[in-house]
Amino acid sequence: VAAAKGDYRHFMHKEIDEQPRALMDVLRGRIDQERGLITLEDLRLDDQDLRRVRRIYAIACGTAWHAALVAKFMIENLARVRVEVDYASEFRYRQPILQSNGERDALILTFTQSGETVDTLAGMEEARRQGVPSVAIVNAIGSQAARLADGGPIYLHAGPEIGVASTKAFTSMLVAGYLFALRLAQAHGTLTPAQIREHIQALVELPGKAAQVIEQVTPVCVELAERYYRVGNALFLGRQINYPIALEGALKLKEISYIHAEGYPAGEMKHGPIALIDEGMPVVCIATRDHIYEKMISNVEQVRARHGQVIAIGHEGDELLAAKANHFIGVPATLPLLQPVLNVIPLQIFAYHVAVLRGCDVDQPRNLAKSVTVE
Ligand code: G6P
Repeated sequence: VAAAKGDYRHFMHKEIDEQPRALMDVLRGRIDQERGLITLEDLRLDDQDLRRVRRIYAIACGTAWHAALVAKFMIENLARVRVEVDYASEFRYRQPILQSNGERDALILTFTQSGETVDTLAGMEEARRQGVPSVAIVNAIGSQAARLADGGPIYLHAGPEIGVASTKAFTSMLVAGYLFALRLAQAHGTLTPAQIREHIQALVELPGKAAQVIEQVTPVCVELAERYYRVGNALFLGRQINYPIALEGALKLKEISYIHAEGYPAGEMKHGPIALIDEGMPVVCIATRDHIYEKMISNVEQVRARHGQVIAIGHEGDELLAAKANHFIGVPATLPLLQPVLNVIPLQIFAYHVAVLRGCDVDQPRNLAKSVTVE
């Protein structure tokens, strides 16, 4: 059955709004809150297989690559297993050394909405050649990636995504990555059931918070879109787990509105992008409170000192940040490793409204394809 737009003008808008539902669906049947257990029965790897995993190669393209970058933080933090992230198109040609010393401790983890991206599939085939098991976090049921994943596909169950710019598949990938990280932590014994229960609680509360974000940030995102839709450039800054969210915010804006946008780790700003900042440059700073918050605040100050226009994403009620920024977008707090799921939503909504105001073809941007099945 073809997906219908219903009352929406664009699939992208509909898919942004579907996120609370998608976040519920990706959790369904995979968590046992009472026992503090991640069940994730799709995985064909048992505790013993998972305990053997000491290194993970995460590969993907486009928005899914950003999900892989976020998942690295989740997996390393929760399960203490090393993760290397590659663009699939680079991975396949770099003769990756997946196993050394005959140790069978590697795993390939791919992220793909369509399950048909040619470079991602080639990476999985390379893993197979080297005898390394793979797990695919994938949306399309029965797709090639799902079939190639001998460790099991972890389906997003996000439903069809039609807009070329990925939204609900991205946030679902983040949650699926989190479930995988918790499942791995459970096998490695790096989290107690009581701790896992706390993570499950945060996951259960996430869809409601996503709905709250959509409702509360839309008016300010529309206002900001009206103010900035004529700019030629935009910069997105974040640190640590929110650096990939800065990349994703920039990608969303550039792919659908054709505004040149760059995502940068905020600490690197002084090594280049700061030269571009003037009074005409919107700089989106992701600054929800975490262990690196103070550093983000000084980056905000540095942008202001060069007369850049700071659009800050922060926790609701953060008056310090609101006072320092030109514009403030408040989102609810969740666990720091889950915060990217909420932080990206205003960036999607902002990009959407900018593209609409510029008269762009939001669902089918020029030169882009939903699924890249040729090189
Ligand atoms: C294309 C799409 C992107 C997507 C990327 C990876 O470039 O336009 O939205 O992120 O492919 O696609 P996949 O299906 O592997 O997630």
